[in-house]
Amino acid sequence: MGKLALAAKITHVPSMYLSEMPGKHHGCRQGAIDGHKEISRRCHEMGVDTIIVFDTHWLVNSAYHINCAGHFSGIYTSNELPHFIRDMTYEYDGNPELGRMIAEEARQMGVRAQSHEISSLKLEYGTLVPMRYMNSDLHFKVISISAFCTVHAFEDSRKLGEAVLRAIEKYDGTVAVLASGSMSHSFIDDQRAEEGMNSYTREFDEQMDRRVVHLWKEGQFREFCKMLPEYAQYCRGEGNMHDTVMLLGLLGWDKYDGKVEFLTELFASSGTGQVNAVFPLSDDAVNEQTAEKIRA
Ligand SMILES: [Fe+2]
Repeated sequence: MGKLALAAKITHVPSMYLSEMPGKHHGCRQGAIDGHKEISRRCHEMGVDTIIVFDTHWLVNSAYHINCAGHFSGIYTSNELPHFIRDMTYEYDGNPELGRMIAEEARQMGVRAQSHEISSLKLEYGTLVPMRYMNSDLHFKVISISAFCTVHAFEDSRKLGEAVLRAIEKYDGTVAVLASGSMSHSFIDDQRAEEGMNSYTREFDEQMDRRVVHLWKEGQFREFCKMLPEYAQYCRGEGNMHDTVMLLGLLGWDKYDGKVEFLTELFASSGTGQVNAVFPLSDDAVNEQTAEKIRA
């Protein structure tokens, strides 16, 4: 029986890549990079063999798609932001077996899901950026799932998340799942791009993101799940926040009550809100309670 070892909502802002390069933005996203490296460290420690990414940069206009090729490699330049990410080389192994299992579980739940092992089907940067910081040693296999869902019901995305968990439980291995997308996502007006590098576009979005961070820290997912459709709509959630819906589907939706740990606190990037946040799993909660008893 397989194990879900880690679940997180993560940033993938391309300024992380810019942050590595010499120049005026050097170091600007070190906090986000450190958050990714900590997730990687924990995954190594817990024996994770595969990382599944809900990728809000993979736009799909019909069905849910799982990219589970056996191997990925290439040189990536972003079509959206070629001045941020260019000529980024990557190479990762995939996990066709688990990808097929996820699609099968989803289909059994009535979700129109398909798995693909097509060598010309490339990864998007919602997967490539985090893998750069978490998987530079090629230790983890990678599966990418489309989460920029243009015509899809939240109900189906929630089921897709549940299907991922069911597949993991039947899989012989240990898995981490990452929802790769922003909190609010009002990209900065083009003429204000420079001043918006480290700030929000709209005060409304910042206040909403702060409130959501508070709810997550307190484990108030009954309230959060109720407001999620409006939050995604009014705060222009990236990919309409289907990544977050999938993540919560995996975790038990509004029954989930973990107190979320922020490895990278809320920060603004090009007008949007970003975090690296680990959603504790029940085993962790038990471990934490035990640790507290020992400390007491
Ligand atoms: Fe993005």
